Amino acid sequence: MHILVCGGAGYVGSHACLALARAGHEVTVLDNMLTGHREAVRWGRLVDADILKPETLDSAFDRKVDAVMHFCARSLVGESVTDPYAYYQNNVTGTVNLLEAMRRHGVDRVVFSSTAAVFGNPVSDMIDEDHPKNPINPYGASKLMVERVLADAANAYGLRSVALRYFNAAGAAADEGIGESHEPETHLIPNALKAAAGEGAGLKVFGNDYPTPDGTCVRDYVHVLDLADAHLRALDWMDREPGAHRFNLGNGNGFSVLQVIEAARKVTGRDIPYEIGPRRAGDPPVLVASSAQAREKLGWTPKFDRIEPIIETAWAWHESPAY
Ligand code: UFG
Repeated sequence: MHILVCGGAGYVGSHACLALARAGHEVTVLDNMLTGHREAVRWGRLVDADILKPETLDSAFDRKVDAVMHFCARSLVGESVTDPYAYYQNNVTGTVNLLEAMRRHGVDRVVFSSTAAVFGNPVSDMIDEDHPKNPINPYGASKLMVERVLADAANAYGLRSVALRYFNAAGAAADEGIGESHEPETHLIPNALKAAAGEGAGLKVFGNDYPTPDGTCVRDYVHVLDLADAHLRALDWMDREPGAHRFNLGNGNGFSVLQVIEAARKVTGRDIPYEIGPRRAGDPPVLVASSAQAREKLGWTPKFDRIEPIIETAWAWHESPAY
């Protein structure tokens, strides 16, 4: 198939391109390069276009597209609180522009990057798809709005879609020259590895007074190649199933910030100095996925189900020449 990967120059998008190429699909990347990396576009041509400029989108459809994977988004929780217009513009308006372009070109399948942030503060330990959705920041709200748009579009236009709600994406495909490179980097694992390498201003642990066993936040880390694999499975699923579908993607294991730092210390063999700081706004204490539906319906089984191997791949990327 020919897949249009919007945001394919970014972290999860570039790993999806790799997985698509490995499975024998043809890839076109659409990216505005605001946060993407040109050197991460290695499996298919790049169309320089912007979902906020609808007139630029048609050029990505000059060859027949069988399905779209949509990763373009602003995705920093804190920034979404201070600049909500940018989040609703890019994540909601931009997505509607893209869906309209798909409709103009007769493309009726999309896999959408959603997030655990749609759930807000969870009311139970394991979060399944039916868990109440009360996002506590504009980022999560913008993604939930798109899920609603997709459901309405299924009804109105027969659009087929799968929204994949990632928990904490981590790891890399260092041997293929791609990994996580955000600027600024806000995520725990890359920041812990920077601290191990003696880079950056020092690692801060955001709060140790949460109602968790060691007082730090607990998250469900899932390898980016396992996320990519779920996207391929979503393509197969849409062949069989009309309508709008949603799946949670995580390992089902929670690790606290201090446990992640300890695992990173073991993997790197280096000391990881850190300071305890105040809580970060918008952080729920515990986010752990039930991915029973993805396992059962998509046949998805994460290959990286332990934290150390996930961090090993992130460290290999950190130590690679392409980093
Ligand atoms: N943390 C630190 N120090 C750091 C970075 C993070 O202590 O330098 C803590 C955070 O406070 C949090 C945990 O480590 O408790 C994980 O933080 P990340 O920033 O790595 O990931 P988040 O859980 O905040 O974010 C992820 C996705 C978001 C998504 C969110 C859902 O990256 O896109 O899960 O809540 F919205």
